[in-house]
Amino acid sequence: MSIRSKRKEEHLTLASKFYQPHQVNSFDQMHLVRPALPEARLNLAAIRTKMFGKDLAAPFFINAMTGGSARSLVINRALGQVARQAQIALALGSASILVKEEKQLASFMVAREENPTGVVIANINAKTSPTAAQKIVTELAADAIQIHLNTVQEIAMPEGERDFHWLANLRELRQVLTVPIIIKEVGFGLDEATMVLLHREGFDLVDIAGAGGTNFAQIENARNPADLSYLADLGLPTVVSAVMASRAQVDFVVSGGVRNPLDVLKGLCLGGKYVGISNFFLQTLLDHDAAYLLQLIQAWQQELAGLLAVYGQADLDNLAAIKSYYDLPLKNVLDQLN
Ligand code: FNR
Repeated sequence: MSIRSKRKEEHLTLASKFYQPHQVNSFDQMHLVRPALPEARLNLAAIRTKMFGKDLAAPFFINAMTGGSARSLVINRALGQVARQAQIALALGSASILVKEEKQLASFMVAREENPTGVVIANINAKTSPTAAQKIVTELAADAIQIHLNTVQEIAMPEGERDFHWLANLRELRQVLTVPIIIKEVGFGLDEATMVLLHREGFDLVDIAGAGGTNFAQIENARNPADLSYLADLGLPTVVSAVMASRAQVDFVVSGGVRNPLDVLKGLCLGGKYVGISNFFLQTLLDHDAAYLLQLIQAWQQELAGLLAVYGQADLDNLAAIKSYYDLPLKNVLDQLN
């Protein structure tokens, strides 16, 4: 197995090892005000939406995880099946490995084969050349591409990148790629200044991928002989990063530490167009099977529609108008960063 494939497998193993399904995070410090007489009913149609021109049953999706190894082929096949059956979008893990290891294409393609007409989003690192990136988009028939910014992960990785001059390549990618681009973090959150910069550079969709769920400093630290555990604290909590995205006036996806349909609703109320879930869905799949994950996602769709009824909403259009308030520690952070 190549060093890159081995890393993909280690990420899967360590994401399971450090997984805490009920991890406390910033969503717990955010509260929504509920009308006691909402005059609404549960309606699954209320949560339907569109992404990149395609119809989806829900505004939440399976966010970027894997590809590029034997185990990830099995996982991506299952995720492709579940995404099609639940009619939700699916982002694949970084396909930048294909630049060096073309033979790993099958581990990504399985998801597209299982879900030929649904929303499939490719993922690359910020150094991938525009030619290689466009090839990946074409091969996977991707509806959009995520480019991940992951400095903390790289610096925690023994074999990681040490030069973070990425903007020039991002500009070239923007010129060449024929599909929408989503710039995302990997669980440390995008900061406001970066989102303002990206917006100015013409990137108008970001995925904040904040802290509160999967922590790649912890995962990489476990692969590193040195003790870099202190890096685990470098993330911006998801709610903080989402408020920053809203201030930066970009279109954004909320992700990082989403554990249940109420977190999804909070993400949408924060102004997120969509909400991404990674490890919670992966661990559900690994602990059970694809049929169980499908059931869970369909239950989430029912529950999210139920929550919309409780909050008096007939569709997804006015969720930002739901009043919210924060516990003081979180409010304090937001005030300081304003
Ligand atoms: C990830 N994530 C990720 N992100 C990315 O942009 N490219 C990638 O290749 C990967 N790989 C990856 C592997 C595994 C096993 C996990 C669990 C996660 C990060 C992911 O997309 C997301 O940003 C974070 O995991 C935070 O979300 P959760 O897990 O807290 O919902």
